[in-house]
Amino acid sequence: MAWWRPLIISALALISVSALSACSSEESLPPPLPISEDTLVRGRELTEGFGACGFCHAGQGRPGEALSGGRLFVDLYGEVPGPNITLSESGIGSWTEDDVRKFFRGNVRPDGDLVYSPLHKGFEWISDRDLTALIAYLRTQPAHESTAERREVSFFERNTTGFFRSKPAVMGYVPQITTSFKTEYGQYLIDSIARCSRCHSSSDTLFSEEGYMAGGREIEINGVMKAAPNITSSKTSGIGEWSEAQIKDFFHTGRTPNGKSVDPAFCPIEFYRRASAEDIEAAARYIRSIPATE
Ligand code: HEC
Ligand code: HEC
Repeated sequence: MAWWRPLIISALALISVSALSACSSEESLPPPLPISEDTLVRGRELTEGFGACGFCHAGQGRPGEALSGGRLFVDLYGEVPGPNITLSESGIGSWTEDDVRKFFRGNVRPDGDLVYSPLHKGFEWISDRDLTALIAYLRTQPAHESTAERREVSFFERNTTGFFRSKPAVMGYVPQITTSFKTEYGQYLIDSIARCSRCHSSSDTLFSEEGYMAGGREIEINGVMKAAPNITSSKTSGIGEWSEAQIKDFFHTGRTPNGKSVDPAFCPIEFYRRASAEDIEAAARYIRSIPATE
C-alpha cells in the first residue's frame, strides 16, 4: 500500500467524525423512528423465548408473568434477587432507553453503580437491532410495584472478588448476523441471548479455563442445588447421540430423546419453546456443532 493512503483514510475519518458531531450538537434531533409491529413481536420473542428474562425477573420464573422481581440466585458475591424491571418506581420507570442500553453493554446503572453480575454475562454482545426490540417490548408492559430488593455490592467486594473478572463495556454499534448463516446465527442466539454456558459450562478455576458447555456446574436457585449436564457433542458424557431434530424437539417440548422431562425450574425450557421456529432451528444447528469435551 502507498505510504500516503493511511493519511487520506484518517483525514476522511476525521471529516466524517466532525460532520457527525456537528449534526448531533444541533438543537433539534430527528424524532425517533416509530416502533413497528415486527419490532414488538421480535421483542416478545426474545423476552419470553431465548432471553428468558422472566426466569430471573418474575416471581415464579415462568414465561408470561410480570417482570416485577424474581427469584433468588447465587453468584460470586453471594445471594442476588432478580430486580423489578417493569416501568414502575420500584422498577426501572425512571430509566431512559439509553440507560437500559448502557446496562446491557457495560453493566452500569444510571447512578453510575457498576453491577458485575455473571447472571447477565454474554448480553454485552446482543445486536443493536435486538436490543432495540427488547427495550421497545419492555416499554409496552404494564408497570408493577414490588418489594423485590436490589443487591448492593460493597466497594470492597466489587474490587476484590469481581475485580479480575470484570469486562470493559462493549462500545459502538453491534450488527445483526444474518439468519442465512444458520450455525453462526445460532451461536449468537446461544452465546449472547440464551447464554446457556452460564449454567452448562464447567467452572473456571485459577488454573484452568471453563470448559465450554462441558457441564458439572452446581446451580443454586431458591436454596435448591442441581448440576447442569454436559451438552457438548461428546457421545459418552454429552449429547453427541442426539440428532439436530432431537435437539429441536427438546427446545419445543423440554423432553430428552429418551422421554425424560428436564426440570423447568432449573433449565429455562418453558421459555425456549416460545422462541420463533427459525430461531429454534438455528440454535439446534449450533448446539449440534459444539465439539466434544469429556
Ligand atoms: C440468569 C438470570 C437473569 C436473566 C435471564 C436476566 N436477568 Fe436481568 N438481572 C438479573 C440480576 C440478578 C440482576 C441484578 C444484578 C445485580 O444487582 O447485581 C439483573 C438486572 C437487570 C437490570 C437492571 C435493573 C436494576 O434495577 O438494577 C435490567 C434492566 C435487566 N436485568 C433486564 C433484563 C432483561 C430485559 C432480560 C431478558 C432479556 C434479563 N434481564 C435477563 C438476572 C437476570
Ligand atoms: C439456569 C441454568 C440453566 C440454563 C440457563 C440452561 N440450562 Fe439446560 N439444564 C440445566 C440443568 C440444571 C439441567 C438438568 C435438569 C434436570 O436434571 O432435570 C439442564 C438440562 C439440559 C439438557 C438435558 C441434557 C441431558 O443429558 O439430559 C439439555 C439438552 C439442556 N439443558 C440444554 C440447554 C440449552 C441448549 C440451554 C440454552 C439455550 C440451556 N440448557 C440453558 C440448567 C440450565
